[in-house]
Amino acid sequence: KVLILDFGSQVTQLIARRVREAHVYCELHSFDVSIDFIKAFNPKAIILSGGPNSVYESDYQADPKLFELGVPVLGICYGMQWMAQALGGQVEAGKVREFGFAEIRAHGHSKLFNAIEDRKGDNGEGYLEVWMSHGDKVTALPQGFSVIGENAACPIAAIADEARGFYAVQFHPEVTHTLKGRDMLNRFVLDIAGCQPGWTMPNYIEQAVARIREQVGSDEVILGLSGGVDSSVAAALIHRAIGDQLTCVFVDNGLLRLNEGEQVMNIFNKHLGVKVIHVNATEQFMGHLAGVSDPEAKRKIIGREFVEVFQAESAKLPSAKWLAQGTIYPDVIESAGAKTGKAHTIKSHHNVGGLPDTLKLQLLEPLRELFKDEVRELGVALGLPHEMVYRHPFPGPGLGVRVLGEVKKEYCDLLRRADAIFIDELHAFDWYDKTSQAFAVFLPVKSVGVMGDGRTYEYVVALRAVCTSDFMTAKWAELPYELLGKVSNRIINEVRGINRVVYDVSGKPPATIEWE
Ligand code: XMP
Repeated sequence: KVLILDFGSQVTQLIARRVREAHVYCELHSFDVSIDFIKAFNPKAIILSGGPNSVYESDYQADPKLFELGVPVLGICYGMQWMAQALGGQVEAGKVREFGFAEIRAHGHSKLFNAIEDRKGDNGEGYLEVWMSHGDKVTALPQGFSVIGENAACPIAAIADEARGFYAVQFHPEVTHTLKGRDMLNRFVLDIAGCQPGWTMPNYIEQAVARIREQVGSDEVILGLSGGVDSSVAAALIHRAIGDQLTCVFVDNGLLRLNEGEQVMNIFNKHLGVKVIHVNATEQFMGHLAGVSDPEAKRKIIGREFVEVFQAESAKLPSAKWLAQGTIYPDVIESAGAKTGKAHTIKSHHNVGGLPDTLKLQLLEPLRELFKDEVRELGVALGLPHEMVYRHPFPGPGLGVRVLGEVKKEYCDLLRRADAIFIDELHAFDWYDKTSQAFAVFLPVKSVGVMGDGRTYEYVVALRAVCTSDFMTAKWAELPYELLGKVSNRIINEVRGINRVVYDVSGKPPATIEWE
């Protein structure tokens, strides 16, 4: 396995993604973990990430003893600068920041670049298109190193001490702008470090199943199934491992999408044979939401009532010793970052099921090591339907934040139908997978319309569709007018009570993706 030490670059997670794509297991840890931790981790290779700081800031130093472990090390950007400095080279503050595409000449036929090139020069040496983003740069090599990549702007763009297996690059091989970046990382991890590409889904399932069995023994496990990707895949995996020792609790809070409860029961209960307790708590939720229009107050009520219902259900299963959750690797990285204060960006949203501590259950989190796309791949491998596993994210408070202001069952019913039409047509026009999230929002205002010979006075629905890679920023989706027209027609014709449909053309920021 590979250890990635994170110096805080925005793209460190991509290094981990690329390594996993080479079918090698890796973990990402803060740069300041102790040398004992690194020894215990027993990595076959270490990668040092980029970072926003300068090596002259004393706070951003890893333990240089990692160079004495006899393990190949690859430094990227800041990782290169720190490596050079730690091994006796020199780094200077750059006067100008180099940012963007650059072409470097690979020379000396290093193991890292040999036969990997975008084009060949006259002398037979390779040239590589790379992505640079740095201010400081290495100006003198440490003992034992030579230059393996250079250009005029950056004469020391890549260096190596091949005898010790130390490599460092000033550019970012983990981003797709570095055209052959993936090949370089594969070369380092597989050929130079000799890692075995054993991290595949069938292997993972086998190991995960064995681990879950060992962990829980003959105990019973409960899991709050939301119908979202993470909890669904966790349920399917745990069920594969321990069958009927798992009981899922699915809470219908009245804020779900059209037929969602039925779909979840069909897939898990009928199809996979998972024990699922379906709790219809619509009235309880609606009762507590009545008269409340403040978005944060609504969120709190929905979260609190969920815990209430979940606790009541788990009290009926006194033999359960474990609470399973669909925590995934980015959640783990985020909360680790939040603890050390060296976080990148911290999302404040909490998924439904904010942990009831009072349950006195041990936590079972079998997806803790997986990235989202690995979770999806796992879900498909475990027999979950593609549509479920590749569904857009749905917020924990559900329609509670999509019915603006006070939530009423009547509003939710109208919204559910409008939303289903929108999603249906997105699929029909082949636009569902081109958007990251799409949904309808219920506006509790009435406007005048005409229908047949009559005047109508009914509610408004807004359509929202966005494209984003991280949900921190988003663009509104440029849906074809034909699609929007069809959706609008269908909603107004088929959903009595709505006579006007509008499209939201606001980006995030300044707007958020949800309306509340
Ligand atoms: P915003 O509206 O903040 O949404 O731009 C970003 C992403 O987070 C989801 N979201 C939530 N998810 N509980 C959740 O589990 C929440 O309270 C919540 N609010 C927003 C939203 O759907 C989008 O994917």
